[in-house]
Amino acid sequence: MPLSLVLSALDDPAATSEARQLRLYRLLKAAILDGRLASATRLPGSRQLAADLHMARNCVLFAYQLLLAEGFVEADRGGTRVAALPLAAAGALHPPAGAHMLSRRARQLPDIKRSEALLPFAPGAPDLNAFPWAVWARLLHQAWAEVTARQLAYAEPGGEPELRRAVAAFLSARRGVACTPEQVFIVAGGQVALDACARLLADSGDTVWLENPCYPGARNVMLAAGLMPVAVAVDQDGMAPAPALWQSAPPRLVYVTPSHQYPLGSVLSLERRLALLAGVEASGGWLIEDDYDSDFNHAQPGARPLPAIQGLRPEAPVVYVGTFSKLLYPGLRIAYMVVPRWAAAGLGEGIRKLYRGGQAVEQRALARLLESGQLTRHLRRMAPVYRERQAVLRAALHARFGEACPILGGQAGLHLVLGLPSSVPDAALAEGALEQGIAPRPLSAYYTGTVPGNGLVLGYGLTVAAHIPELVTRLAGVAERVRNAGGVPS
Ligand SMILES: Cc1ncc(COP(=O)(O)O)c(C=O)c1O
Repeated sequence: MPLSLVLSALDDPAATSEARQLRLYRLLKAAILDGRLASATRLPGSRQLAADLHMARNCVLFAYQLLLAEGFVEADRGGTRVAALPLAAAGALHPPAGAHMLSRRARQLPDIKRSEALLPFAPGAPDLNAFPWAVWARLLHQAWAEVTARQLAYAEPGGEPELRRAVAAFLSARRGVACTPEQVFIVAGGQVALDACARLLADSGDTVWLENPCYPGARNVMLAAGLMPVAVAVDQDGMAPAPALWQSAPPRLVYVTPSHQYPLGSVLSLERRLALLAGVEASGGWLIEDDYDSDFNHAQPGARPLPAIQGLRPEAPVVYVGTFSKLLYPGLRIAYMVVPRWAAAGLGEGIRKLYRGGQAVEQRALARLLESGQLTRHLRRMAPVYRERQAVLRAALHARFGEACPILGGQAGLHLVLGLPSSVPDAALAEGALEQGIAPRPLSAYYTGTVPGNGLVLGYGLTVAAHIPELVTRLAGVAERVRNAGGVPS
């Protein structure tokens, strides 16, 4: 390519803040890297180029010297020419024709929309304004005041011992999980815990049963690990596998959200819990119990949350997964997995080989938040707040959408599901609602294969009760417009 074309962007008005000599250097370097200036091309003399570009000769010399020092050009018989670059460098700005940046597995991962996380009715977030930040800041400050080099290096794989102890005690008191601290592994988020299960407990090509509808983060982790998903329908009692499925598609992993199915909100019945345990025990598989948001028992105010499957038979092949994303804040990235005693050494070894530990300082602060009982007090304070939000949301939905739209879930957690008639497709309604600053998620997005459910997943963790009726009125207005427009956002 002629040099004049390469340098035509030198006076691009968008780049006026950059010194011209630096821009000259960058343009030449980019053109050499992507092959527009081929190796051995002679560059004009510095005096000549300076005159052509109406710039001081020193500026051209500056650019040439930088390129020379970095090996992009070389001196040649008193002049300058483009050096021969290794293939790996030349053309590095563009992928080779026919190549894909992402693996086939990665390209097949369904999209997960995240940007609207802080808008009203976005599912998945707790009330980030209600957390006792002053307490948390004090504990962090204290942990930082005591910091030594050890906490700044990689953290203990599996977690800081004091946090493992505190989590074991917290889970035993609140969730009926029976474990010692050695069975608790601290990881950087529930998503990482699921990833560890997929990669350490199953081999590529193994079968994983997923709830249908399912938490997309879990589905993506399993697909990315090369597992073969089998979508198992969910009803009002949770995951409902046909008995024959144990023979026709024996699972290596069974992923369930038994305390509050995500997103439908059903609770896995005791009968099904025992059947799943018996099934995985007989088939040599694993049950992954994702207990992501069941710290509140809205069905029985004052009562403890529903106990975990893990506590039914602590020696069974169950990995219990929980996260602090809903109790503190999602950006903390601290979660835990609890494994049977007989698997603790092996899984600990696997986790050590696969991941690096971090956030030792935050882990120590968190241990104190748990040990001092302040987290439990915060949860007790929030239980009636969330219960009120759910009741107000339920009443407003009922008033605006009527009997034709059933409301599902709500025994635990921070969201409800509103069923919709087919005249109001959920994706169109969610799209229209987003334009109004409201972010429920379409239920159909959680399904694979079969005819998806049509509805909205509405989070109430973030939305104060006083705002809910007006937001639901706005949502009903959008639904009306979608219906009148024949099922598309208007
Ligand atoms: C069902 C379910 N499981 C697991 C997680 C993972 O939580 P995190 O990766 O934030 O710890 C989430 C997050 O929203 C979730 O909804």
